Amino acid sequence: MKKIRHYYSRSLIRLMAVTAVAAFLIAGCSSQNTAPAKEVKIAVLTYDEYDTFINSMTKYMTRWSRQKEKEDGIRITLDIVGAKKSQITQNEQARKFITEKYDVLCVNLVDRTDATVIIDRAMAAGTPVIFFNREPVEEDLSRWDKLYYVGAIARQSGELQAKIITDALSDPETFSKIDVNGNGTIQYVMLEGEAGHQDTLVRTNVCTSSIVNKGFSLEKLGDEYANWDRDQARAKMRELADRYPFQIEMVIANNDDMALGAMDALEECDYPLDPFVVGINGTQDALEAIRTMKLDGSVFNDARGQGETIMEMAYSLGTDRPFPKSIEFTFDKYVFTPYSIITYDNVQRYINADN
Ligand code: GAL
Repeated sequence: MKKIRHYYSRSLIRLMAVTAVAAFLIAGCSSQNTAPAKEVKIAVLTYDEYDTFINSMTKYMTRWSRQKEKEDGIRITLDIVGAKKSQITQNEQARKFITEKYDVLCVNLVDRTDATVIIDRAMAAGTPVIFFNREPVEEDLSRWDKLYYVGAIARQSGELQAKIITDALSDPETFSKIDVNGNGTIQYVMLEGEAGHQDTLVRTNVCTSSIVNKGFSLEKLGDEYANWDRDQARAKMRELADRYPFQIEMVIANNDDMALGAMDALEECDYPLDPFVVGINGTQDALEAIRTMKLDGSVFNDARGQGETIMEMAYSLGTDRPFPKSIEFTFDKYVFTPYSIITYDNVQRYINADN
């Protein structure tokens, strides 16, 4: 019995020694495995290739990745494709990237209520997805812990757009300049983005209700969708200007391109009034129009902050590293950048900031 115990204890010691050596070797190997990847493949799928705001985001993404490549010496393959506003095309693009073993997909959905196909494929392949700008519905996003969303809080943009307007209306002199017919009510037209987009719905309702809640009286003359697009807004505004040749005192647009399109139309038709015009985003053209006092204000939508956050997250996922501490998550999967007000008084700061 004793002998047997002795035998076991010796072999136990040998086993422990072998285990220790193996553990050492495995640790060595695995530290090689966790050594930084040589290449990270990131695919960016946008809903459309002609959207000014989205294009400025992808510009910052490209710039970030070129910079990161230099810093870390890890090759970053960044493929950016547009879906020409077709969810079917985007689903196919996602399938291709997943098949080609891209590490992460960054998806700007065409139809934010239709993320199922992309999520199903990504989950089956274990490919994380960072959605951005067009927020998927919560049931979709909560299906897997490797699904994220980067964007901004639509309500805040509506509130700040209203603040630009109510700040102006609170000054009696400005009020009487805007209220040309002097009836105490501001006659306005609304140019909306796309039907069903969270930013369209929320910006429109929150902006007008916040103005009314501050005690100002509004009268809506017209409300048109122009799909975030300058030319469509110009055409819609021409029709509105023809319909209301002397009445339009204010133009509220869900984004800057549409605000600028409205201004194009007013200029083209020599509109006799000079309506107060506000947009959202803070695009380069809008900043210039604010600086030259043509556009009355905008709400800064942080294309650079969102683009760089998406890239930081994609890179961390692709290299199996934790997310940088600087990224603040809501419910572990949402990241929202703050909006801010841009008017003539502070526009120079935004022009200098290279946003
Ligand atoms: C909004 C932006 C619009 C348009 C849209 C696309 O956040 O303000 O200009 O880019 O996203 O989804």
